[in-house]
Amino acid sequence: MKKFKRHLITSALPYANGPIHIGHLAGVYIPSDIYTRYLRLKGEDVIHVCGSDEHGVPITLKARQEGVSPQVIVDRYHELNKKAFEDFGISFDIYSRTTAKIHYETASEFFRTLYDKGVFIEKTTEQFYDEEAKQFLADRYITGTCPHCGYEKAYGDQCEQCGSSLSPTELINPRSTISGSKPVLRKTRHWYLPLDRYEPFLRKWILQDHKEWKTNVYGQCKSWLDQGLQPRAVSRDLDWGVPVPVEGAEGKVLYVWFDAPIGYISATRELTPDWKKYWKDPDTRMIHFIGKDNIVFHCIIFPTMLQTEGSYILPDNVPANEFLNLEGDKISTSRNWAVWLHEYLEEFPGRQDVLRYVLTANMPETKDNDFTWKDFQARNNNELVAILGNFVNRALVLTNKYFDGAVPPRGDLSDYDREVLEQIPLMRKRTGHSLDHFRFREALKEAMALARLGNKYLADTEPWSLIKTDRDQVATILNICLQITANLTLLLEPFLPFSMEKLREMIRFGETDWNLIGGSDLLPAGHTLGTTSHLFSKIDDKEIEAQVAKLQATKAANEEGEKSDLPPQKEEISYDDFMKMDIRMATIVDAVKVPKTKKLLQLTLDTGIDRRTVVSGIAEYFSPEEIVGKQIAVLVNLAPRKIKGIESQGMILMAEDPDGRLHFIIPEEATENGAQVR
Ligand code: MF3
Ligand code: ZN
Repeated sequence: MKKFKRHLITSALPYANGPIHIGHLAGVYIPSDIYTRYLRLKGEDVIHVCGSDEHGVPITLKARQEGVSPQVIVDRYHELNKKAFEDFGISFDIYSRTTAKIHYETASEFFRTLYDKGVFIEKTTEQFYDEEAKQFLADRYITGTCPHCGYEKAYGDQCEQCGSSLSPTELINPRSTISGSKPVLRKTRHWYLPLDRYEPFLRKWILQDHKEWKTNVYGQCKSWLDQGLQPRAVSRDLDWGVPVPVEGAEGKVLYVWFDAPIGYISATRELTPDWKKYWKDPDTRMIHFIGKDNIVFHCIIFPTMLQTEGSYILPDNVPANEFLNLEGDKISTSRNWAVWLHEYLEEFPGRQDVLRYVLTANMPETKDNDFTWKDFQARNNNELVAILGNFVNRALVLTNKYFDGAVPPRGDLSDYDREVLEQIPLMRKRTGHSLDHFRFREALKEAMALARLGNKYLADTEPWSLIKTDRDQVATILNICLQITANLTLLLEPFLPFSMEKLREMIRFGETDWNLIGGSDLLPAGHTLGTTSHLFSKIDDKEIEAQVAKLQATKAANEEGEKSDLPPQKEEISYDDFMKMDIRMATIVDAVKVPKTKKLLQLTLDTGIDRRTVVSGIAEYFSPEEIVGKQIAVLVNLAPRKIKGIESQGMILMAEDPDGRLHFIIPEEATENGAQVR
């Protein structure tokens, strides 16, 4: 294998439109963090970059649903996710974001270079446009009837009933999922990256030069290449993103999958003025950690971008993982089927390493895998507590008890003693070898083997019995146990950084050099230990049952929701968020239809504080006559909006049935206008 001078580790930039869950951790961030920590311990020049992916249509839709700007959404999740990563010891050198100024500059420059080189094709095509939402629609925001099987909820790109892949123009009776209106076809011009032209290059680079890639990654690449690549549009009609930096491209932004991977470059630029050595020197080894849904972007599209740009290196490996399920079901943000990191921390404070351990032991490296709370408990109690914690605790407590907390000297060694010491460097080799090949589950097993060895050695030699007859031999045994302990702090550091830091303090050991592993004098005789405490503690059935019950409640709520067609509960808000709304009782004193509309009524309200105009979309259900005099609830501090030229100064609160029928919310008995609702 080629000897590289330095490493550039990237972790997929998570979308800033939701919190991080265990699937993200197990798929991407734990492996990348273990790997980076391992390289740092070996003294390699390595940086690990990541950040928030803050563009794309889903973010704009979420913003629209909440009635805020996309910036508000990405600010919220950028902060939340940055903190979650820190809390779990994911040790990025930088966590940047794609709304950063440096990213806009980097991404525009990159596009411009390709544009000036004539890499792109320009094409005008007809695409569906939502006249009500005033935007072009990505395929999956169009639904309609499948032309093959008649399923009424087929998507613009696929029918989930019969599995046919579709194009949106094939749908019968297409609808926009954003506004529900019927989309129309409109001409639009875009820039395309002609992937088909780079097929020969990609075939050689991946299929011949990178046969060592994981089989799941190699296989997916091969299947993409064998199907034949198509030109890919790299721009979109959207008002959220990096503007396309050429003339005549108003209202167009870079496609999120064009700008996001460039985010790795921007993040490196933000981190260090020396960024070029990480991106442009062939002696740098670049590795992308991602989930399987990102393979095509990191193995085919981004490398093509880098290659055509000309001055960048290509990734040396892309160790993508498969997906983690939760209790047998696919993790889903919208169905709230997940274990969120911030919630885990509230319920298991200080136990980040337990989750890191369990997610590594069950990492979906070669196939999808399952997380269950029972397994979480079992691995904590039977492995972390009973093996690692138990060994370390006995070694330290016995040293305190018999030798006053100082490392006793080693005397003559038995064959068994010698064998044990000889095992340690072998374990470093094995663990390192597994890590070098991105086999994290195996690596964890190899590293834990040292704790098992220590545990067994103690059980076999029984120093607590031997102390009555042979104090010198006990000194030797405990010396060896303490050397094992010091070795463990290094060998397990990449996996359990919090606990190993704590353990280093307990034995007052400051070294962090991987190459020391195997040493049998890491702690010299006479060295005094620090204060002993427990590394891990048991998790009892009650705690696990509570988690399982929580998931069962989610499942029940989801099933209920599916049956009744009701939309799922919206995301949690704070008390302060709620108190920002000023809702008052008001009387409708006048109502007229807004001319040339079907749905709108112009209402005059007595709100107690003033008289004001509100335009409301209720004309299909209520006539002006029947509602004048009604007392209703109105949100009075909503920003005024012009509707059909009339300024609407608030919003009437109505209950809406799943089938769209509207009902007033009226007080049981009349109250004063202006009374606050809360
Ligand atoms: N946001 C994407 C996802 O969560 C990953 C982007 S990775 C990058 O699937 F390379 F584009 F940054
Ligand atoms: Zn179908």
